[in-house]
Amino acid sequence: MALSASFLIRQGLRCGRIIQASNAAMVVQLRRLHDNKAVLPRLPVPALEDTLEKYLKTVKPLVTDEEFAVTEEIVKKFSAPDAIGATLQKKLLERARNTENWLSDWWLNAAYLDCRGPVVVWSSPGLVFPLQEFKTLDDQLNFAAKVISGTLDYKTMVDQKTVPLDRMGKDILDMSQYFKILGTCRIPGVTRDTIRFYGQEPNLPKHIVVAHNNHFFKIDVYGKDGKALNVKQLVHQLRNVVERSTHPTIPVGILTTQNRNVWGKAYKQLRKDKTNRASIDEIQRCIFLVALDGPIVNPTGNIMTDAALNCVHGNGPQGYAGNRWYDKTIQFIVGKKGAVGLTYEHTPAEGPPVANLMDHIMDYIEKKNGSQPPAEELSRPHRLMFNVGADIKQDIEDAKVALESLVGDLEMTCFKFSEFGKNFIKSQKLSPDSFLQMAIQLAFYRIHHEPGAHYESASTRKFLYGRTETIRSCSVESVNFAKAMLNKETPNAEKVAALRAAIEAHKSYAKHAVNAHGVDRHLLGLKLAAIEAGMDVPTLFMDVGYLRSSHMRLSTSQVPARCDAFMCFGPLVPDGYGCCYNPRDDAVFFGTSAFNSSPETDSATFREALEQSLRDMQNILLQDGLKAKL
Ligand code: COA
Repeated sequence: MALSASFLIRQGLRCGRIIQASNAAMVVQLRRLHDNKAVLPRLPVPALEDTLEKYLKTVKPLVTDEEFAVTEEIVKKFSAPDAIGATLQKKLLERARNTENWLSDWWLNAAYLDCRGPVVVWSSPGLVFPLQEFKTLDDQLNFAAKVISGTLDYKTMVDQKTVPLDRMGKDILDMSQYFKILGTCRIPGVTRDTIRFYGQEPNLPKHIVVAHNNHFFKIDVYGKDGKALNVKQLVHQLRNVVERSTHPTIPVGILTTQNRNVWGKAYKQLRKDKTNRASIDEIQRCIFLVALDGPIVNPTGNIMTDAALNCVHGNGPQGYAGNRWYDKTIQFIVGKKGAVGLTYEHTPAEGPPVANLMDHIMDYIEKKNGSQPPAEELSRPHRLMFNVGADIKQDIEDAKVALESLVGDLEMTCFKFSEFGKNFIKSQKLSPDSFLQMAIQLAFYRIHHEPGAHYESASTRKFLYGRTETIRSCSVESVNFAKAMLNKETPNAEKVAALRAAIEAHKSYAKHAVNAHGVDRHLLGLKLAAIEAGMDVPTLFMDVGYLRSSHMRLSTSQVPARCDAFMCFGPLVPDGYGCCYNPRDDAVFFGTSAFNSSPETDSATFREALEQSLRDMQNILLQDGLKAKL
């Protein structure tokens, strides 16, 4: 079984992500592996003492010696035999025995559905596609039609379970997120949201929704014969939408940018009207949404940054924020001049399945697909109407004000670092991801003269329904490295040794994290076990060591893609940075962000510091190499 599984995966990858349908036996086996319950291990609960030992190591660089002594004492009490730690650990182990994944339900609520801040900026990432150049409306509609057609093609692969399996080394990964990104919507609640997977319900959605000038239209994307519309037919439908929505209408969609409690209340009110209810249902049930935007509003002069901001918040009420429904999982954005991307609501999935979808679309477009025979009998796009009374009008005005301030606060700097990429780093026998993480650490230290707690997402999809673990990238070794690099007196060989040690420490933590032996998810589990049992939250979670090491001033993630694209998101904390990157062979794409309201942070300064750090790191390695040759 194991042998044939790895054969299958290799085949899938070699075929450029398209499994040869002619090999029926292979397809059957691939489908079986997609139903991964039988093959994937369950998410483990790490040993308590291992987690606490790791935890102390990650706290050390961020606190004073006195503070560290207090943290050590608290950890000692927590982990004493018969103390609270052991009780909570028992509860976790019991939960792990009785569930398929001890974390997944808790995680869904704690990381997403219980969070009451807006999804815009605070939760939903943007994904900027390779930049396009549209000269005419035809160009824009043609591209949008191809994006739709490519996504429907991808959906067929998902439905037929023929998407090649992702893997990490020789391990196959959980693919369940792939089934959750199309046909899904988050539903606002007054104290907690919910999520619905319409794509997994008996009455499958067959339509998409297109937004233009804040109007929403339902388009059936399958003809009466069940065939997907071809690109020509889709262009025809999109043109019909544009012609019927020449002027902006009241931006009901902007309500989805609000604080979730506020939106939850407005949502109840909005749904009291029968017409509104029917329109909302169509938006929530659709396979995905496509927003046709005008030209970028308030351009910064950096087209990558402009496209990123437009994906993340639509440039607010003056821009296209009303031309969105931010609760929808996948929402493509096709701008008039060629800024193309998507924003996705994060609850059901991480970036990789979404980036995979984009890669598929770009391949699909490049191969000039979408010219299949037309589907039979098109129905005209159906306008989704809203009746907006005085109370909802006020809610919309309130949403505009709230969003205005969020948009004013977020600043981004997105760029391509072209001096080197993965190939150079690999040639130095170093891990590219760890190298880039250490460059980010160095950039932070260069600006702030102190280390910053640093979150990197690691995938735990080796396990059934696995999502992520945090790599705590700030370490004693990363601080030593930053200090060595910034001290002119340090000899080159010492800098190189410090860099290699920091990378080694990061790589080692990353290995633990992808094997679900990090610190953060285990500690979260212990805390939630206490809350669920009605116990007091242990002191460990109020200690300065815990608070400082969890105040992630650097929120980072690698989202690789096969094309020149990048993901981007806002910082996690008010005085922090967001930094997402796509490492290519000879370049790295970065999307960085910070908040204007923090006097300490600035994404343009961060870019400079990051580029300088990358250059300096390359230089010390090259110098070291030259010396070795002499
Ligand atoms: N010498 C030479 N090459 C090396 C090397 C070394 N010392 N160490 C690693 N490499 C190679 C690897 O073999 C790999 O090669 P490939 O390009 O042929 O596959 C490549 O460098 C990349 O490896 P590395 O940079 O070490 O990291 P990674 O790709 O394994 O990624 C994580 C590490 C943590 C980012 C990844 O495991 C992960 O979890 N990704 C998911 C993150 C996620 O979910 N993000 C979305 C959040 S919304």
